[in-house]
Amino acid sequence: MKHKMKVINSIQQMKKMIHRYKKQGETIGFVPTMGYLHEGHLALVKQAKEENDFVVMSIFVNPAQFGPGEDYETYPRNEQRDFALATEAGVNLVFMPDVVEMYPRESTIHISPGNQANALCGMSRPGHFDGVLKVILKLFNMIEPTRSYFGMKDAQQLAIIETFVEDFNFNTEIRRVPTVREADGLAKSSRNVRLSAEERNEAPIIYQALTLGKQVFLETQDGEEAEKQMRQLIEENSSGKIDYMTVLDYPSLKKWTRSSSEIILACAVQFEKTRLIDNIILKIKG
Ligand code: PAF
Repeated sequence: MKHKMKVINSIQQMKKMIHRYKKQGETIGFVPTMGYLHEGHLALVKQAKEENDFVVMSIFVNPAQFGPGEDYETYPRNEQRDFALATEAGVNLVFMPDVVEMYPRESTIHISPGNQANALCGMSRPGHFDGVLKVILKLFNMIEPTRSYFGMKDAQQLAIIETFVEDFNFNTEIRRVPTVREADGLAKSSRNVRLSAEERNEAPIIYQALTLGKQVFLETQDGEEAEKQMRQLIEENSSGKIDYMTVLDYPSLKKWTRSSSEIILACAVQFEKTRLIDNIILKIKG
């Protein structure tokens, strides 16, 4: 029998459903998304299904996390395809509010992500993580998830949300899910469809550069040398412009030091219509 999936657009109805689940003592796994689902999202759902009684997915392209001139308007959207994929993956409930439902008025209260946003995407996309935390806080309050699932491709987002949850005692456990890649190494992303054919051919160089950087770092313990070689490989093999290419401590996202236990090699490349990010996290101690 085909699995039945509910789609809810209203916050009030969503809260009602959640209270029903909770009353029955059910655990809720939450997968927040902006839609245009791909295997990366489906990996989050798979893990959420294994670990919880119910899986709730939100689909909401959050205007608060896009800056002026960014791709909010052109962000890929396809509801029917998303519903089919979510149903097939076994999602129990999709929460899909519109912008007025989520943001009925301008709030005068702002949430600021702190030091972890002073690097990587936080530098090139000012206000981006304020917008992410704003929507995540609202979604956590509406869905009250037992566990929440985030992909490691967005490693900075994950690090900031982990800090948020820890510092403000949210009753949800954050689960990290590894990046899913195409056969040629390109990290799955909703934005990949906006690459031209030529750019799509070049894009796997991002992961090749990160892999090279990892090798150089492991051999030399020299972050600057790793950065130099990663940068050179991309510059020589891609029309995309490097936004950042760096090695930092993870999850603090400060300069790495000899006492760092994990580091991140992270990269963002701007192509004509889309910007791609990727990273490798490396345990260097323990
Ligand atoms: O990673 C994303 O898709 C978004 O940043 C999220 C977590 C759904 C918040 O809008």
